[in-house]
Amino acid sequence: MCGIVGYIGDKDLNSVLMSGLWRLEYRGYDSSGVASIMNGDLDVRKVEGKLMNLQEILSEKPLVGKIGIGHTRWATHGEPSDQNAHPQVDCNDSIAIVHNGIVENYYTLKEELIKKKHVFKSNTDTEVIAHLIEENYNGDLKESVLKSVSRLEGSFAIAVITVSEPDKIVAYRYGSPLIVGLGKKENLIASDIPALLDHTKRIVIMEDGEMAVVKKNKVEFYNKDGESIEKEEREIKWGPESLDKGKYPHYMLKEIYEQPDVIERNIGLRLHDGKFDFGENFNFSPHELAHLSHIVIQACGTSWHAGYIGKYIFEGFSRIRTEVDISSEFRYRNPVIEGEPLVMAISQSGETADTLAGLREAKAKFLKVLSLVNVRGSTIDRESDSAIYLNAGPEIGVASTKAYTSQIFQLYLFAIYLSRLKWSLDTSEIEEKTRGIIKIPEKMRSTLKNADTIKDIAEKYKDAKHFMFIGRGINFPSALEGALKLKEISYIHATGYPAGEMKHGPIALITQNTPVVAIAPQSSVYEKMLNNIEEIKSRGAKIIVVATSGDKRIKELGDDIMYIPPCEENVSPVLVALPLQLFAYYIAVLNGRDVDRPRNLAKSVTVE
Ligand code: M6R
Repeated sequence: MCGIVGYIGDKDLNSVLMSGLWRLEYRGYDSSGVASIMNGDLDVRKVEGKLMNLQEILSEKPLVGKIGIGHTRWATHGEPSDQNAHPQVDCNDSIAIVHNGIVENYYTLKEELIKKKHVFKSNTDTEVIAHLIEENYNGDLKESVLKSVSRLEGSFAIAVITVSEPDKIVAYRYGSPLIVGLGKKENLIASDIPALLDHTKRIVIMEDGEMAVVKKNKVEFYNKDGESIEKEEREIKWGPESLDKGKYPHYMLKEIYEQPDVIERNIGLRLHDGKFDFGENFNFSPHELAHLSHIVIQACGTSWHAGYIGKYIFEGFSRIRTEVDISSEFRYRNPVIEGEPLVMAISQSGETADTLAGLREAKAKFLKVLSLVNVRGSTIDRESDSAIYLNAGPEIGVASTKAYTSQIFQLYLFAIYLSRLKWSLDTSEIEEKTRGIIKIPEKMRSTLKNADTIKDIAEKYKDAKHFMFIGRGINFPSALEGALKLKEISYIHATGYPAGEMKHGPIALITQNTPVVAIAPQSSVYEKMLNNIEEIKSRGAKIIVVATSGDKRIKELGDDIMYIPPCEENVSPVLVALPLQLFAYYIAVLNGRDVDRPRNLAKSVTVE
């Protein structure tokens, strides 16, 4: 987590650094800071709290200078405070550093540096790097950074400046993302592409163990041994306009409404005359896929929920055994993997530390990895054998919405493709499902037209302290996702549960004050869901149902109903997601929450 930026050039440093930090705010926002070099001295400004606090400081007293670094923080070591905010500096205020990641051996290094009389001012792991560079400094920042990073364990992307060499930013990547932006008489670095887009579309993606020495008129790249290397330049196809909220009050709402277009775009990209096209980075042969022994999916958070839905689809109609694991469990479980499985890593950002570690774990076992990622060129994308892109466009709201529905959609298509290869569905079934796909965007649009009703329902329940979300079959993971969406942005406690499990314990939680969101579209488990709803209703809970339009029976059971259009059961999670997202959104807004930047969270979780 955390976002770092750096700039060298003639533009106004305040606006370049701040606009970059605003673009990276999704990575963390508990404190922030900037540093520049002015008249041979470091000028460091940093402050606890949201980025607006830093903006105010800079508008009162702007930075002056031609070189600067900036940081927006998600605290790992040391609470959010002015002192722990980055940039961190050395003893003499001559070296400043911003850091994204964790220095795992910071304690040992700190003890060692304290013995050498270094004086620490913060509780961060990052400050160790500043002192280490100071300790190793011999008049060449590049050399001292290289020497210092060789002592670090953990993950880091850093940018360093020093008053002794005011013509360069030295940046190094190991385990956390780092991008270099190439301009004319100016160059930049950042944790993510959006922070560069206002200035350039020409970028270089750094790999682990690589260093960039960024000067105004050139950027030099080195490997960890200090040897000069050539790096490929890439051109970004999208512009800063796709990063605006447009007419919406929040990114999350904008992204919810973008979902039908995302699916439509993917239909255009993936389906050609009944044939499937999984894109330019999909390299598995039909032969390989037809002979898979099983599938192992590993992911985190919302992406894990999408993977869980994938299990139902792969097993349901591709008839392929599918295991789904949370990456932070998968990576340390030393999973028993036999046969010839396909390992799938699902991630919007493509940078989630645990998912990346799970991918590496799989590769260490000589397994092939297919990733489903939104951010092209991300680490997970680059380290996978094959990738299917979500094509959802930048997702900025911390709560994942459009990436989620695109993940389910890609899994659905991939499952149909596998069914064809494995002959687990006959041609007429495949054709029917393929025809059904074309109708999904329109069904999503008509679902979103119920937003006002959902807002009214949210108004009724906004003061509840606990919610339960229940579902069965393929919509059990939808219940998990509905609960996650609500709790992460509204801070209201919510639990997702398989409806059939309620009477094995959780039903004890049910009172008149525990609203239950029951996901009960028409499906093979519809009747079972009705029974579960009856059981809960008879214990006094209010029931909010996600149901198929035209369902008369549900009207008698549900206190409030959020409708979706009729659809194939395996597609229903895509439609079900929409009212659940809107419900969470409106409850959070009505409670005055910062929907796009919920507390304690970050969009891209690059630490484990
Ligand atoms: O970028 P990823 O899809 O790998 O992120 C995984 C989770 O961190 C993410 O889905 C998180 O749970 C979101 N806040 C959910 O809305």
